[in-house]
Amino acid sequence: MSSGQQWDIVSGIGITALAVAAARAVETNRPDPLIQDPYALPFVEEARPPVPMPTTEAEAAADPLRYWPAASTYLAVRTKAFDEYFAEASEAGVTQVVVLASGLDARAFRLPWPAGSVVHEIDQPLVLDFKLRVLRERGAVAPCEHRPVAVDLREDWASALERAGFDRSRPTAWLAEGLLPYLPAEAEEQLFKEIHRLSAPGSRLAVEAFGARSRTVDAPAIAGSMNPLGIDIAELVHSDERTPPADRLSELGWRTRSVTAEEAAAGYGRTLTESFNARSVYVFAELPS
Ligand SMILES: C[S@@+](CC[C@H](N)C(=O)[O-])C[C@H]1O[C@@H](n2cnc3c(N)ncnc32)[C@H](O)[C@@H]1O
Repeated sequence: MSSGQQWDIVSGIGITALAVAAARAVETNRPDPLIQDPYALPFVEEARPPVPMPTTEAEAAADPLRYWPAASTYLAVRTKAFDEYFAEASEAGVTQVVVLASGLDARAFRLPWPAGSVVHEIDQPLVLDFKLRVLRERGAVAPCEHRPVAVDLREDWASALERAGFDRSRPTAWLAEGLLPYLPAEAEEQLFKEIHRLSAPGSRLAVEAFGARSRTVDAPAIAGSMNPLGIDIAELVHSDERTPPADRLSELGWRTRSVTAEEAAAGYGRTLTESFNARSVYVFAELPS
């Protein structure tokens, strides 16, 4: 997608955020859920996507393409891994948060943030409008100061974040989950530079890195797996070669630790299916104090 192009929750990249919400609804509906997201179901019900999405385990299991069982397991594992990341950051006293490309992530509303926490969420204006409308209608109250920042991450998002009240003198816990393949290479490079520039010592960053191999290898796998959404994801993702996030962060002086999605899943007693992001790696980084 070219710079300046926008999307809502049922078109273009926006629909991928809705798919993640559907996966969280499916997981929440399981008898042994890894996560509980009470807002995932209302998001899917309100959006009414052109191609219906499951919200229960039975509906996911009925998918003849087997896309939804794989996707919902993977996305539940990913959600739990990053929920735990935020719990650890809160425990360590980091109370400023930035969720990049937040989509329909409801963490600002469903996690137990300590007093004084501020959660910024960056995404496209129409995606955030939809999300806030549904949350308002459901009477959702965030146990933190919630600051939506409607801006395109291919533009000057850092200025928009600072205008929204972000304080670069405070350590921050950043998250880039389900984002990098959608950014052009220059925007990804700029993203890491800006995160580093805005990060006080003691800041943390969690990134979903899509496979240890190059994106040229991984992009077709992502493309194939997303066809059940009724969109051509190959048109949305960028498959050019990039520096792996952990290398980039190490060069900038961050201490990094990587966990493969398969390791994370095994830790939660789940097994991933190769067809959906199974080669992803979660990178956890910290800027020493
Ligand atoms: C797969 S969804 C992931 C959403 C969320 N992080 C989650 O895991 O639930 C991708 C999100 O990235 C957002 N996104 C992609 N490119 C963006 C850009 N250039 N500017 C702002 N948001 C962007 C989309 O709007 C969408 O909400």
